[in-house]
Amino acid sequence: VMAEKAGYRHFMQKEINEQPRALIDTIRGKYSLESGDVFFDLSKDLKESLKDITRIVIVACGTSWHAGLVGKFYIEKFARIPVEVDIASEYRYRDLIADEKLLFIAISQSGETADTLSAMRMVKKMGAKVISICNVVGSSIARESHSVIYTHAGPEIGVASTKAFTTQVASLFLFAMYLGRQRETMSAGESREFLKELVGIPDKLEHVLRLDGEIEDLAKKYKDASDFLYLGRNVNYPIALEGALKLKEISYIHAEGYPAGEMKHGPIALIDSELPVFVIAVKGSVYDKTASNVEEVKARDGIVIAIVTEGDTELAGKADHIIEVPDVPEELSVFLTVTATQIFAYHCANLLGLDVDQPRNLAKSVTVE
Ligand code: G6P
Repeated sequence: VMAEKAGYRHFMQKEINEQPRALIDTIRGKYSLESGDVFFDLSKDLKESLKDITRIVIVACGTSWHAGLVGKFYIEKFARIPVEVDIASEYRYRDLIADEKLLFIAISQSGETADTLSAMRMVKKMGAKVISICNVVGSSIARESHSVIYTHAGPEIGVASTKAFTTQVASLFLFAMYLGRQRETMSAGESREFLKELVGIPDKLEHVLRLDGEIEDLAKKYKDASDFLYLGRNVNYPIALEGALKLKEISYIHAEGYPAGEMKHGPIALIDSELPVFVIAVKGSVYDKTASNVEEVKARDGIVIAIVTEGDTELAGKADHIIEVPDVPEELSVFLTVTATQIFAYHCANLLGLDVDQPRNLAKSVTVE
């Protein structure tokens, strides 16, 4: 078993560290840096019908749902198609609106999650075009969709999903670019720029992995806190949700992820000197707004751990702790910020002596409703 873990203490730790490789494998062969084109191995019929779709629904559960929430930003930005993202167990019990102009994207690491599979079958019957993003080759969801985009994360053993998430996000990023190029809502020049940045992500992620010791020190300091709050905006709002989920899943510490701007409508009441608050405040379109949230937390004596862009001197002076990640376009910062939260959750659970890979009450894949 030690050999399978390649010297790591837990599968989760190994899988966190495999993310640069997993990303390289996932994006390989899907783009041309020269032309700015993006390629997907979709059926010919589906490629044609993608030109006529008027809206997109992304459905998933758990961490895969968080990837879907990030994907919405990409598709709406690059392809200008309205996207709705829903939790499979909610979506499937509504009065669904679906026809051949709907593209339905099911995201599932295992490809076997019962609620996601059911939702997919329902809209497929109603005529929707169905694409899945799966990690397990030949899984039910992969087999039943019109086309499948495989993430090449490799087997994910840890119950808490890590490399499946980042490879799902990379797949959504490229797929959004593909749609954007097809509809010409994204220029070849813009596409080349984003591809260049995407290709640089695995290296920048290595840099975040090297912050392991620094993040472990934070875990030592705060692992006994009873609650955590995670805040983020825009593409990093889903990362706040994912960071909180990771901590809950494996360390059993209560954590809440929230859109930073919504803090004043509730969670602000929880802030006191005992509450550690992760604020994802990398540079980009919402930096100033998120920086004011840091001040609001500090004004109420909360403990701020800010995930910032390297060289950010402004927040370094305001937050209690900072985790600096490399400077990348806001859209792509999620790979770096989520990894920092994964490492933190991992160390909390490990330091608390918990079963990191097999947390109580959780299953790797939920095949019952
Ligand atoms: C379970 C797992 C999660 C996963 C979710 C969805 O809850 O513990 O890690 O995100 O199922 O699984 P899927 O295989 O559909 O992505």
